[in-house]
Amino acid sequence: MKGVILCGGLGKRLYPLTRVSNKHLLPIHSKPMIYYPIQTLVDAGIKDILIVTGGNHAGEFLRLLGNGHQFGLKHINYTYQEGEGGIAEALRLAKHFADSDKIVVILGDNIIEKSIKKAVDDFREQPSGAKILIKKVSDPERFGVVELDKRKRITKIVEKPKKPKSSYAVTGIYMYDKRVFDIIKTLKPSRRGELEITDVNNAYLKSDELSFSVLKGWWTDSGTFDSLLRASNLVAKKEQCIKKY
Ligand code: DAU
Repeated sequence: MKGVILCGGLGKRLYPLTRVSNKHLLPIHSKPMIYYPIQTLVDAGIKDILIVTGGNHAGEFLRLLGNGHQFGLKHINYTYQEGEGGIAEALRLAKHFADSDKIVVILGDNIIEKSIKKAVDDFREQPSGAKILIKKVSDPERFGVVELDKRKRITKIVEKPKKPKSSYAVTGIYMYDKRVFDIIKTLKPSRRGELEITDVNNAYLKSDELSFSVLKGWWTDSGTFDSLLRASNLVAKKEQCIKKY
């Protein structure tokens, strides 16, 4: 299985910080943001990685990461998204890299506490379709939110609902088979002018090919001032715990 990290977009919610840097190069505690999703994939056993960069200062990714030797990688693949047409648009650029293999996709601003290896291994065994990881949060209206029936099956995913029907957010970790690229071709831009990853997930749901599991440990994005600070604090606490024991 291959891994794709999406670091496109302009990070406008973090202006002025992102006027002079790329959001995914900003510090989270002691490391640049991009280090964390790379480590998440490496810890899950994924060594073949594509980074989709974009916006300003994309060349700095190469200077910072090179071929990824600091993560035990032999090589990192890079590509560039023009503008910010959405997460699904950025993912479309991974078609050649994926080359019909299954992929694990992680948003470059998503930071987690624990390993996703079990979920990735489960998806490897899943014959086809997609898998998402969900997490209970106190502010679901900021995210894609799943609606569940009485038997705890997902019936619908709604992007940033004003009145969320559950507290389960869809995290920025997605697993797809090769059909994802055909689905992306059928998407129309949403009201915010983006190709939405939630539409991709709903397409899999419609054909009954979307599995999910609940992510263990804490999860945060880091694309707003509040979540950027929270991410640093959570990582700092985790590192202190590791040092203590
Ligand atoms: O963090 C999880 C959430 O991420 C999900 O719950 C939502 O369903 C999903 O739409 C997304 O929501 P956000 O509005 O928080 O996404 P944002 O625009 O902040 O983009 C998150 C990352 O995706 C960003 O760090 C880089 C990548 N991205 C985003 C856009 C808009 C791209 O690579 N290209 C893009 O054009």
